Amino acid sequence: MLNIVIFGAPGSGKGTQSDNLIEEYGLHHISTGEVLRDHIARGTELGKIADSYISKGQLIPDDLMIRVLEHVLDANPEKTEAGVIFDGFPRTIEQAKALKEMMAKRNTKVHAVVGLEVDEDELIQRMINRGKQTGRADDTPETIKQRLKVYHSQTQPLRDYYISEGKYHGIEGSGKVEEIFDRIRTSLNERVPEIAAMKAE
Ligand code: AP5
Ligand code: MG
Repeated sequence: MLNIVIFGAPGSGKGTQSDNLIEEYGLHHISTGEVLRDHIARGTELGKIADSYISKGQLIPDDLMIRVLEHVLDANPEKTEAGVIFDGFPRTIEQAKALKEMMAKRNTKVHAVVGLEVDEDELIQRMINRGKQTGRADDTPETIKQRLKVYHSQTQPLRDYYISEGKYHGIEGSGKVEEIFDRIRTSLNERVPEIAAMKAE
C-alpha cells in the first residue's frame, strides 16, 4: 500500500500528474477540489458553504475540510485501503497533522509528497487558458490572484514541514507532461523504499 500527496500551487499540474500516478502505481485519486465542485454542482449544503469560499479564492475552514476528507476515506474503504493519491489536501499545517493521524488510525502513513514547482507567470497563464476553455468558475484573473496569495501564506509552509519529515520530492513542474512524470517516477522509484519493495514483488 502506498499513499502519495501531490502538492503544488494552483495550476501546477496536480490533477494532470495524478492521472499518471494512478496508472503507474494503481492508486485511488482523492481531489478535494473535485469533491467540493461536485457538491456545488449538486447544490448540497456542503456545496453552498464551499462555493462561498471557492468563489473568493479562500480555503474552506480546516475543521470542515478535515471532516469531509475523513468521510471520503470512510465511504470507499476497499479503494482507499489499496493506496491513495491525495490531490489538494493537505493545504495547511493543521490539515497535514490531521492527515498523519487519519493514516495512523488506519495503520498506514503518507509515504511521499510530490511537490510540483512551477514559475508563477506560467501558473497564471495555464489557469487563464483553462478558464477560457472550460469555464471553471475560480479561473478568473481576480480569483487566481487571490488563490496564489492564499497558497503562499497558508499552503507553501507545508513544503518545509514535509522536508523536515524527509518525505518531500521537489519536482521541476514545467515542460511536457510526460517529461515531468518521468522526473516524478525517477524520484519516487529511487527514494521511496516501499516502491522498490512493490517493484520487487
Ligand atoms: P483545487 O481544485 O485543488 O484547485 P487548485 O489547487 O487551485 O489547483 P488546480 O486544480 O487549479 O490545478 P492543478 O494543480 O490540479 O493543475 P491541473 O493539472 O489542473 O481547489 C480549488 C478550491 O477548493 C481551493 O481554492 C479551495 O477553495 C478549495 N479547496 C480544495 N481543497 C481544499 C483543502 N484541502 N482545504 C481548503 N480548501 C480546499 O493543471 C492546470 C492547467 O494546466 C490545466 O488546464 C492543465 O491541462 C494544464 N497543464 C498541466 N500540466 C501542464 C504542462 N506540463 N504544461 C502545460 N499545461 C499544463
Ligand atoms: Mg486540480
